Amino acid sequence: MNFKDKIVVVTGAASGIGLASVRAFAEAKARVLLTDVNAVAGEAAAAELAGGPGDVRFMPLDVTDPASAEALAVWVEKEFGRLDVLVNAAGWDIIEPFMQNTPEYWEKIVKLNFMGPVQVTRALLPLLFASEGGRIVNLSSDAGRVGSYGETVYAGAKGGVIAFTKSLAREVVRKQVRVNCVCPGPTDTPLFASQPDKMRDALTNAIPMKRVAKPSEVADAVLFFASDRSSFVTGQVLSVSGGLTMVD
Ligand code: NAI
Repeated sequence: MNFKDKIVVVTGAASGIGLASVRAFAEAKARVLLTDVNAVAGEAAAAELAGGPGDVRFMPLDVTDPASAEALAVWVEKEFGRLDVLVNAAGWDIIEPFMQNTPEYWEKIVKLNFMGPVQVTRALLPLLFASEGGRIVNLSSDAGRVGSYGETVYAGAKGGVIAFTKSLAREVVRKQVRVNCVCPGPTDTPLFASQPDKMRDALTNAIPMKRVAKPSEVADAVLFFASDRSSFVTGQVLSVSGGLTMVD
């Protein structure tokens, strides 16, 4: 795939799936804005990729802060005048039973995993309209399709991302913007590594392919939706989970 001269923004891109997506876009010669709330890790990741193919720059972004998303939009407008691809990858979770959740935990989960993509998308949509074919790829989760033990509110937020994807896809199709959604299953990232051993083992065993995904395998699906290879695809959801979930 060739993304030469395409302008790409990836959120939550200092780690895991977001970072793997940045790497893949850079290899395909895109101009990538690697954004993350963790400025130290973001700067370091962008510095590591500088000098390779593509053009990777770091911009700080807290997806829970509308002002931060607006500042990013102003910068992209000034620098490029348009945006071709937005990947909403920032997300967070801790596995614990619903009855142990605090309201603060619920608020953080929803603010980051659901309102984050909503706010960033709203801020950047005018720039995607200015592209000759804007694309949005949202990272949801198989938890949002089939539910997940100990991830009750996270699953609700990720289910919301799926419904948001489909509804937005209908609204913006006339502006030549396509919106699709990738649902990773368990994937070998710092987020997955932070979950309890018992949970990680149980999930790995339940996967027909008997291993978790590599972040680059999820990034492959992100690039598919961001590319012309999916030119007639919008409002769709693709699980990358080694067969863990098989949903119609
Ligand atoms: P990760 O923890 O490796 O990376 C997430 C990144 O998001 C980090 O760099 C973090 O600093 C950043 N971030 C956190 N809060 C932020 C904020 N307020 N604003 C901007 N950036 C913020 O996570 P991973 O595994 O790469 O996850 C990527 C996406 O995939 C998430 O949306 C996650 O929910 C989803 N996912 C991951 C799965 C897995 O097994 N790793 C499974 C299913 C879905």
